Amino acid sequence: MDSDDDTRMSDAEPVSPLRNKGKAKAVDQDAATADDNLPWVEKYRPVTLDDVVSHQDITATINRFIEKNRLPHLLFYGPPGTGKTSTILAVARRIYGADYRKQILELNASDDRGIDVVREQIKQFAETRTLFAKGFKLIILDEADMMTQAAQAALRRVIEQYTKNVRFCIICNYVNKITPAIQSRCTRFRFSPLPIPEVEKRINTVVEGENVNITEDGKQALLKLSKGDMRRALNVLQACHAAYDIVGETEVYNCTGNPHPQDIEAIVNSMLSDEFTTSYQMILKMKTERGLALQDLISGAYEYVNTIELKPNARIYLLDLLATTEHRLSTGGNEKIQLTALLSAFKGAVELSAKSA
Ligand SMILES: Nc1ncnc2c1ncn2[C@@H]1O[C@H](COP(=O)(O)OP(=O)(O)OP(=O)(O)O)[C@@H](O)[C@H]1O
Ligand SMILES: [Mg+2]
Repeated sequence: MDSDDDTRMSDAEPVSPLRNKGKAKAVDQDAATADDNLPWVEKYRPVTLDDVVSHQDITATINRFIEKNRLPHLLFYGPPGTGKTSTILAVARRIYGADYRKQILELNASDDRGIDVVREQIKQFAETRTLFAKGFKLIILDEADMMTQAAQAALRRVIEQYTKNVRFCIICNYVNKITPAIQSRCTRFRFSPLPIPEVEKRINTVVEGENVNITEDGKQALLKLSKGDMRRALNVLQACHAAYDIVGETEVYNCTGNPHPQDIEAIVNSMLSDEFTTSYQMILKMKTERGLALQDLISGAYEYVNTIELKPNARIYLLDLLATTEHRLSTGGNEKIQLTALLSAFKGAVELSAKSA
């Protein structure tokens, strides 16, 4: 589930005039109704740096930079939904107040960021001096790993040239896609996946605020599926709340289309002990009935296999084949053929296990 685009589209506030050229953004007339329609990821987006959960070391350091008026160029990197965009927006709000949009230029993957934009738009924004003589403006390059190498190269000089009145914040998921020259001009902060208890705290606030009827099982399933991605946790919670009156474990798995652990258990047990054809038919049936994707089945099986007992050599054999099957699937392998390969892998592992006994 990748909801990144949805959240970005709903970014209601008017952005820098440069970026907003000709794009009419409809929301923001009636705050109350707008608030109701907002996806929870936006409604509960941290406003201040203190609202950003986990990452206290990062927010404390940045706070100190701001207090001393010594903000360096920043580079935020880490997996999705861990608060990178939220943090820099909170920083902007802290520096410029509620009217921060006028002082920043925010460009993300939905904007053209080729070399021309670096040469014109960014330079132009950087050149015009701020209204407040002491201050600097902020240029946020979100999802910068999508920028072309040429644009990044052009940026190197721009960053240096305008350091006097502009600070850059470069945000990306994969830091190795940012040229070393830019990395060395910035102070780097890694946003790691959020620890489960931190996600839980925030989820609890939302559950209370929105009167979600969620069971303890449901919450645990939600946290497990979120894998430290707060955006995913909030989106799944909202979807479940919209679809069901009471959100339990089954509802969470149904909502996300993830296979239920019990289904995975049944499938893996069948692969280990049933005869080939019986097992194959059973999985095929289950796949169509529950709408399971083989990819999810493999990751589920992978997790489950780690909890069962197997001889070391059988386990190694199986894990290797699981990885190979997953890779072949991701490059467009046929689901049915890969399913038989998966089954064969399990059969082979069982045989190996029996031989070395
Ligand atoms: N550390 C956090 N504290 C509180 N809420 C968070 C945190 N991280 C993410 N969220 C929630 O998830 C949503 C998405 O976060 P954000 O846009 O900051 O993620 P991101 O790190 O920029 O992800 P991406 O790499 O996909 O752009 C926010 O609107 C917020 O509701
Ligand atoms: Mg982001």
